[in-house]
Amino acid sequence: MPTFPSTRLRRLRRTPALRSLVRETALAPSDLVLPLFVTHGRGVRRAVGSMPEVEQTSVDELLRDAEDALALGLGGIMLFGIPAAKDPVGSEGYADDGIVQRAVRALKAELPELVVMTDVCLCEYTDHGHCGIVVDGDVDNDATLPYLARIAVSHAAAGADVVAPSDMMDGRIGAIRSALDEAGCSRTAVMSYAAKYASAFYGPFRDVAESAPSFGDRRTAQMDPGNADEALREVWLDIDEGADIVMVKPALAYLDIIRRIKDETRWPVCAYHVSGEYAMIEAAARLGWLDGPRAHEEALTSIRRAGADLVISYWARQFARRVRA
Ligand code: PBG
Repeated sequence: MPTFPSTRLRRLRRTPALRSLVRETALAPSDLVLPLFVTHGRGVRRAVGSMPEVEQTSVDELLRDAEDALALGLGGIMLFGIPAAKDPVGSEGYADDGIVQRAVRALKAELPELVVMTDVCLCEYTDHGHCGIVVDGDVDNDATLPYLARIAVSHAAAGADVVAPSDMMDGRIGAIRSALDEAGCSRTAVMSYAAKYASAFYGPFRDVAESAPSFGDRRTAQMDPGNADEALREVWLDIDEGADIVMVKPALAYLDIIRRIKDETRWPVCAYHVSGEYAMIEAAARLGWLDGPRAHEEALTSIRRAGADLVISYWARQFARRVRA
């Protein structure tokens, strides 16, 4: 074992240049995916109280944000839709002229090289706000699968590069993969929200996406925060069913899960640094209790260090601007 005084670890911490030479985990804008929320209308930019600097935008404004993301060198964007109308089966979710389908077509026409990912779920489109078809007060797993497959195919047909199911139904990756292949979309990748926990940190997102459940919660579908072995079972099932990338969500409270999944599967791992994690840092920074940019950067670095190849982050653009400056 190296010992003091021949070994002095502070020698390589002396200057910024030395520290950067031996830094093990470097964060790059291309590792980050920016979530964007698209709504109907023109010229719309609607701020949301619990998510500073996050807005609902119409397609024309979305194109400007996406252009900015591309110019900043971000890895891609993740799209969420806010429909004009909601119903029990979330039919705007799979409509050809649904808001996400329109947005994807416009993005691919104007910015073909931008990686466009879409969130595949029912909760933003259903009037009850649950992630599937509700039967007798609970989400019916098998009745939901064809709807998810239909949403995914409609996103792929519009040109999405990656579809990302976030509902946590059993068997949905297989159902989506085979529906995509049958529809001639074998090149569309599937990123599975594989280990998605029933988390309090989704609160601000539900304000932005207008997707809070009108009764009950999501605990019959999303994972119990106490479980880690089960995350591996979720992930292996999804890989077996055809997931190209597996996701852990949230990120900061689940760094151990990210590490275990990376070590045990060696599969591409995404981490979703969720709305509440972002809002928590922003709130403290606004109170003057934290240095916001430094705290954001440290959080993102720790998520990469834990083993995530890509990170979905509301702070992606701010990070890219900071490293450019
Ligand atoms: C919806 C979905 C949620 C998030 C992403 N997709 C919310 C939920 O499951 O309630 C959360 C993202 C965030 O908090 O930033 N299926």
